[in-house]
Amino acid sequence: MKIAVCGKGGSGKSTISALLAKQMAKTKNVLVLDTDESNYGLHGQLGLAAPRDLMEYFGGKQGFKQKQRAPKTAPLGGLAVPGALGGQPKSRFFEERWSFSGLPPEFVEEKGKIRLMAIGKIHEFGEGCACPMGVLTREFLENLDLTENDIVIVDTEAGVEHFGRGVAKDFDTILVVVDPSFESLKLSKKFDELGGQAGNRVFFVLNKVEEDIKGELLEAVDSSKVAAVIPADRELFRASLKGAEFDIELEGIAKLAEFLDKN
Ligand SMILES: Nc1ncnc2c1ncn2[C@@H]1O[C@H](COP(=O)(O)OP(=O)(O)OP(=O)(O)O)[C@@H](O)[C@H]1O
Ligand SMILES: [Mg+2]
Repeated sequence: MKIAVCGKGGSGKSTISALLAKQMAKTKNVLVLDTDESNYGLHGQLGLAAPRDLMEYFGGKQGFKQKQRAPKTAPLGGLAVPGALGGQPKSRFFEERWSFSGLPPEFVEEKGKIRLMAIGKIHEFGEGCACPMGVLTREFLENLDLTENDIVIVDTEAGVEHFGRGVAKDFDTILVVVDPSFESLKLSKKFDELGGQAGNRVFFVLNKVEEDIKGELLEAVDSSKVAAVIPADRELFRASLKGAEFDIELEGIAKLAEFLDKN
């Protein structure tokens, strides 16, 4: 299952991704894919070192862009291979299909059943837009084969841009993290609409929920699509302030994992 964790900036996407990964790794193999180029804390929350940018595997942004520009049917610098099926190339970027066990080890941080990879970060002033990151995310997900026990959790950047780029088409499930704000509630409707267009199943995770506003939030979204309600948790907040590994069990996260398992 490929799950995208989406939502407004600061709604809790990375927090939910990390907690969910830890929960699901109790029974499944989990790959967390960090696609947010301005994300610097996720690896710490998982208790891992920061992985090398996968973009480097393809020669960095410049090398990747060159491969992107080359015609699809021609082999490219030894990396792209015309596919066997109907003369179509398998991919401009991958020589073969990838699986969890075949991921390039120098780009994977790993502990127990959790693996972490990052598409890429912005490192230098003026290095250009993040568009190649979106393309690589899509190509990577398309090229990745999963077994029944494999889960990919994709921590996305804030907002809806990845839908515009078409990245979303490769997800089975979109989890929209909704925090108690007017913007988040409005945006959740947009996610629902765009996810529907992309053919995804869209569920909401209501996050940072205090008891007194829970009812209002449930009324403001399509409650049949609410996968979990996660309370505002002070311990969690403190752990993320320190950049510490999450060692916190939340009932809502256990329920979310159960929900995803069943749906
Ligand atoms: N359930 C929660 N209880 C308390 N604090 C939370 C909860 N969820 C998230 N937070 C806090 O909210 C802040 C934003 O969380 P997080 O970084 O996960 O959001 P994000 O959506 O990934 O942000 P960005 O858009 O910058 O990627 C952090 O300080 C985090 O500790
Ligand atoms: Mg984040």
